[in-house]
Amino acid sequence: MNVENDVGPVAIARRFDPFGAEYLADPYPHLARARDATPAFYSPALDHWVVTRYDDIRSILLAPAVFSAANALSPLTPPCPEATRILSGFGAVPTLANADPPGHTRVRRMVNGAFTPRRVSAMETVVRAVVAQFCDERLRLGHADIIRDFAWDLPVIVLFSILGAPAEDVAQVKEASENRVLFTYGKPAAEEQVRVAEGLVALWGYAKALVEDRIRNPRDDFTTDLVQALDGQGRSLSVAEASTMTLNLLVAGHETTTSLVGNAFRRLLEDRSTWEQLCADPSLIPGAVEEVLRLDSPVVAWRRRTTQPVDIGGVAVPDGANLLLMLGSANRDPAKFPHPDAFDIRRPNAHQHLSFGFGAHFCLGAPLARLEARIVLEEVSARLPSLRLVAGQPLEFLPNISFRGPLSLPVEWDT
Ligand code: HEM
Repeated sequence: MNVENDVGPVAIARRFDPFGAEYLADPYPHLARARDATPAFYSPALDHWVVTRYDDIRSILLAPAVFSAANALSPLTPPCPEATRILSGFGAVPTLANADPPGHTRVRRMVNGAFTPRRVSAMETVVRAVVAQFCDERLRLGHADIIRDFAWDLPVIVLFSILGAPAEDVAQVKEASENRVLFTYGKPAAEEQVRVAEGLVALWGYAKALVEDRIRNPRDDFTTDLVQALDGQGRSLSVAEASTMTLNLLVAGHETTTSLVGNAFRRLLEDRSTWEQLCADPSLIPGAVEEVLRLDSPVVAWRRRTTQPVDIGGVAVPDGANLLLMLGSANRDPAKFPHPDAFDIRRPNAHQHLSFGFGAHFCLGAPLARLEARIVLEEVSARLPSLRLVAGQPLEFLPNISFRGPLSLPVEWDT
């Protein structure tokens, strides 16, 4: 058989190359072939079992005792000796994304408790104000890069406001956390690893100083709520736990929310009739956001590790195996979503996507990400109904296994 035409599991596994240019530009044809061929295959290049189908991935996310999250934030490429030495100054401890029960359950309850209804409803006011200011200041000239000029720092400015961190520190944190995605989910060169390691240690110091300040000087912000939260035994988070949580919030949700906003403009403007429908009827926006999340998962893959031998759709996977759960593939599984490659802003079950994960680790920031995307679309569609993509632009994506969104998206409009 011609090797290129072989769609059996062995050939699929051999050809799986998430760092290849073709895959980075559009992973979905590859994922569709893999999903058709097998529910799971071993990739020797990544040393991960790649899981492809909706029902299997959902079940895995619902069973934390069998599928540990311990590897979720581990660097795919082991850090070089110099980066390892620098990282000895990085004091983060497993709190949420890479913690398992019972530790995860305790911290998650405490963090959920700090997201009081008052705090959450205040977010809408903050987000609306930031988006309106961005529109006024950055969308004036009739053209812009909607990623670089608009969606790039929007999520971090919102998070800073919620955490109570000073706005003038945004650039410092953005710089220190830049390329963290490449460090954890990519194949960075040694000098890049050293730079990111230095940034992470600086960020750790920043988060710890913020936490220690709020322990001494409580204020009306989320960081204060976090350091004052108590578990069932009346104990608060340790300084290391609260600092890790703060650090993770400072850097979580930047790239993902930027990608969500970028993907939304890309899809709505590529099929411009959908943009016109939103402009005419803003009540379509929440459904459109869910469909964008389904069609273009900002986190295309997430990780787990088996704690015992398991069977995934008839494929035997050993104990201690790393799993790469292809959320982007689950979201286009035709068994769950008919005509999965079509962009349908009225799709009735779009919200059942797995883009925010599922179960105990379901994304803490999902309500905030949804809110930001909705408000951006409401404000921009009301102000710039003539918005369109600049024709003939190639899309570029960061070379990594998990995070996916266009790095740049030039748009224009009538002034
Ligand atoms: C479109 C934007 C976002 C996407 C697609 C996204 C996606 C995800 C995914 C896939 C997970 C893993 C879920 C699992 O293991 O089942 C996760 C967890 C998490 N996300 Fe997000 N996220 C987004 C925005 C945010 C924002 C804005 C924040 C912060 C405010 C945030 C904070 C977190 C945290 C703290 C966790 C760990 C939760 C836990 O383990 O209990 N995310 N997110």
